[in-house]
Amino acid sequence: MTLLALEDVHTYYGEAHVLQGVTLRVGTGEVVTLIGRNGAGKTTTLRSVMGIVAPRAGRIVLEGADLTRLPTHEVARRGIAYVPEERRVLPNLTVLENLRLGMPGAGQTSRADNGALLEEVLTYFPLLRERLTQKGKSLSGGEQQMLAIARGLVARPKLMLVDEPTEGLAPLLVQNLTEILQEINRRGTTILLVEQTLEVALALSHRLYVMDQGRIQFEGTPERLREDPTVQQRFLGV
Ligand SMILES: Nc1ncnc2c1ncn2[C@@H]1O[C@H](COP(=O)(O)OP(=O)(O)OP(=O)(O)O)[C@@H](O)[C@H]1O
Ligand SMILES: [Mg+2]
Repeated sequence: MTLLALEDVHTYYGEAHVLQGVTLRVGTGEVVTLIGRNGAGKTTTLRSVMGIVAPRAGRIVLEGADLTRLPTHEVARRGIAYVPEERRVLPNLTVLENLRLGMPGAGQTSRADNGALLEEVLTYFPLLRERLTQKGKSLSGGEQQMLAIARGLVARPKLMLVDEPTEGLAPLLVQNLTEILQEINRRGTTILLVEQTLEVALALSHRLYVMDQGRIQFEGTPERLREDPTVQQRFLGV
């Protein structure tokens, strides 16, 4: 079943026509990855879904409901969490305070529910559990990335949009984070991922879209992309 669909989405920054008709779908339960060179439009695609930059044409649909020009908080309320490239961990708040920012607001759930939710999310991130009272700024880059993902998860999203989570991380942490994202997906969260490292993308995804110059140039399984050196050379510079 289709959870999220983009239908011929065109997005501009001022006069610059960045997304030039992006069509893609994410099925319930999938990990779908967008991959492509710097400036291809990957982040703009996620920002378009979140309503951070509104598409000028086309449609974005979540479970049959049109999201296209909804404000960002409304998109979030409908079940999409966004973990941006720049992570945005608040440096002077503790890990726990950062996590609370991602939780459903007062009146929507009880304190006990939020406690259980926090426990559940921390099972993925033992490193964060040991650092709950430390300030955000004291965390390493990898720990901050984990905190950013954990803060998205405490909202219990149907769909998580995660932009380049492994960027700048040491190989061991990349491996660790890959396993965490896999486990999050196995336990029921659908993921639309942006990932520049081909091997990580191939290992994690059910399907991939290769993007170039604001257009989708390839759609298929990891097996198909692995066997397509032309696409790899033309759009990924492999
Ligand atoms: N706020 C902005 N204002 C104007 N142009 C922008 C803005 N953000 C991005 N762009 C341009 O839009 C195009 C797509 O950018 P985008 O950030 O979506 O690419 P990306 O695929 O995420 O690249 P990267 O791999 O470097 O993160 C680029 O040409 C970029 O320069
Ligand atoms: Mg980007």
